[in-house]
Amino acid sequence: MIRKIIFLVLLALTTAHLAAEDGHQLWLRFNKTNTDTHYFSGIDANKNRFAVKEFQHGWTEMTGASLPTVSELNNNTLVIGSLKDPAIASFGLRNELKQLGNEGYVIKSVQQKNKRITVVASAGESGLLYGVFHLLRLIQTQQFSDNINVVEKPSYQIRVLNHWDNLDGSIERGYAGHSIWKWDELPATVSPRYKEYARANASIGINATVLNNVNASPQMLSTENLLKVKIIAVELRPFHIKVYLSINFSSPKQLGGLSTSDPLDKNVRKWWADKAAEVYKLIPDFGGFLVKANSEGLPGPMDYGRTHVDGANMLADALKPFGGIVMWRAFVYEPGDDRAKLAYNEFHKFDGQFHDNVIIQVKNGPIDFQPREPFSPLFGAMKKTPLMPELQITQEYLGQGNHLVFLASMWKEFLDSDTYCAGKGSTVAKTTDGTLFVQKLTAIAGVANIGEDSNWCGHQFAQANWYAFGRLAWNNRLTSDEIANEWIRMTFSNDTGFIKPVKEMMLESREAAVNYMMPLGLHHIFAFGHHYGPEPWCDVPEARADWLPKYYHNAQPDGVGFDRTSTGSKAVEQYFSPLREELDQTATCPEKYLLWFHHVPWDYKMKDGRILWDELCYAYDRGVKQAREFQVIWDRAEQYVDSERFKEVQTKLKIQAHDAVWWKDACLLYFQQFSKRPIPYDIERPVYNLDDLMKIKLDMNEHN
Ligand code: GCU
Repeated sequence: MIRKIIFLVLLALTTAHLAAEDGHQLWLRFNKTNTDTHYFSGIDANKNRFAVKEFQHGWTEMTGASLPTVSELNNNTLVIGSLKDPAIASFGLRNELKQLGNEGYVIKSVQQKNKRITVVASAGESGLLYGVFHLLRLIQTQQFSDNINVVEKPSYQIRVLNHWDNLDGSIERGYAGHSIWKWDELPATVSPRYKEYARANASIGINATVLNNVNASPQMLSTENLLKVKIIAVELRPFHIKVYLSINFSSPKQLGGLSTSDPLDKNVRKWWADKAAEVYKLIPDFGGFLVKANSEGLPGPMDYGRTHVDGANMLADALKPFGGIVMWRAFVYEPGDDRAKLAYNEFHKFDGQFHDNVIIQVKNGPIDFQPREPFSPLFGAMKKTPLMPELQITQEYLGQGNHLVFLASMWKEFLDSDTYCAGKGSTVAKTTDGTLFVQKLTAIAGVANIGEDSNWCGHQFAQANWYAFGRLAWNNRLTSDEIANEWIRMTFSNDTGFIKPVKEMMLESREAAVNYMMPLGLHHIFAFGHHYGPEPWCDVPEARADWLPKYYHNAQPDGVGFDRTSTGSKAVEQYFSPLREELDQTATCPEKYLLWFHHVPWDYKMKDGRILWDELCYAYDRGVKQAREFQVIWDRAEQYVDSERFKEVQTKLKIQAHDAVWWKDACLLYFQQFSKRPIPYDIERPVYNLDDLMKIKLDMNEHN
């Protein structure tokens, strides 16, 4: 018996150790050894308040005990409260807090009666929770001081994750295992992960989630499933996260048994109104619907000769009485023109026609989450319609679960792009966050990379992308450097010997991926279907032309690239002047977008004097070198990291370096058939044969 107990204790200790180091805690590692516990002498706050409980939760993990409540303010007292609390009112913060709104907050060092006090205050409960997480972060990252003045207000009202999770537990483009939503166990069994998920999101300011795939099953809205959604909503609510659902436009027909789903049909309208009422009865704070319609074969209003406006407004009418909204996606590409132009062609003409509880969700680029795309020309083009950016956190086109690619750099490039829609400085960020246009709704979405893997995201460093999305949604002015710095400190170590090289690696990683996958504006040369690995040669007779790499790279003996100029597809004309003219000329088009906008001869002279072909070779080679350098950086960092996470990342970096060579060889050997030029002699020779690479067919079972 005693032996058995010893065994069980040992087992518990080992598993506790493992659980602590498998990455499950994300960035919420309130580490005792890092914490200076002398900051606060006590707390003055209502201990029953949710935000205060969360503070104590973190503080207890850091110090081993909760912070004692005091009844009068002493030196180093921490005060947490809202305007309702007399203590807060006495600090003269009323106007400032009112201006910051319910989600905004301050963290301030104040002097009262010769006592130095730290105040976390907000007008609302959600702001208080965000303020508490900010305070914990400052302590965790060793940035707290007793001379602090933090004033925060979110850039976007709705900061939403889009889960592409199906009712059968699979996840479209998911690389971290099955869905965390356990539809088959709900409503009876409630997974503890719902709460962990909610806490992680709240800690970075995410306040909304769409639970299911945009390729939505009509069944999502069945009463049986709504009862399950209700339970998830209950779990997320204390963390101020609203639940939304993706809907299938033909639900009235397929679920409701009606003969049509025509948005102008009165029975259809009634069906949606009744469904909305049912949803809100179960979930009074339900957020609304996300809709992918008339896109990639899904039903939509155009099936009935109606428009996107008819469809979106019909749903908006159904949700309006309950305060719900419609997030209507502009990811549409009915054939007929250059695919990069199609969403703009379809949507910009509808500017000003959507109801005020509709927001149009637009992917960052005009095609589809490529490693590098120029921003979608819709941003800035619809001044009377709120648009919300859709970013992809899951790395469908960026090495999936295997590559370390920190996406903040990519998202910043996008948010900081100048649309020129209202003169110089009209960045995408400003066209969407309410700075430039009066917008009743502002929002930003990220396609989640979360699954039931114990580390949530598949790759330890993919957690940084979830983190970065939340932080940028909260504050689109943050830099990638600041975000990486916070995340590394919280997730791994506060040691500068670790932070500096690892941060450099993260900040370089997106450019590295572009280099070894598709530099200089190349795009969509992925393997068909699953999108892992190169297949610039890909030919699938039954596929649409614009699903195939050749459509995009257009490699010929005379050159390579897609001519989107004023004499080509005219896609440049969808941008504002002077950007339009800049992109239109090879001499002024930024070289990172060269082959996106131009078909360029192989011997075209680049700015550095090299010819295009050589430049392409050096870019691929640079990508390989960068990936190899990441391995070195990581190996050197071993002393700072627990062995489990160290080994896991080490193994993945090896795959990444291997894949980089695969990409380089595949693309250079393939394009060389057209360029008919040697690979510059100071570059490593290919180690693979094109014929062998062309035979690779990964069995990954995904569509286009
Ligand atoms: C891409 C992706 C699909 C997804 C689609 C969308 O095409 O590969 O899996 O459904 O985007 O955003 O709707």
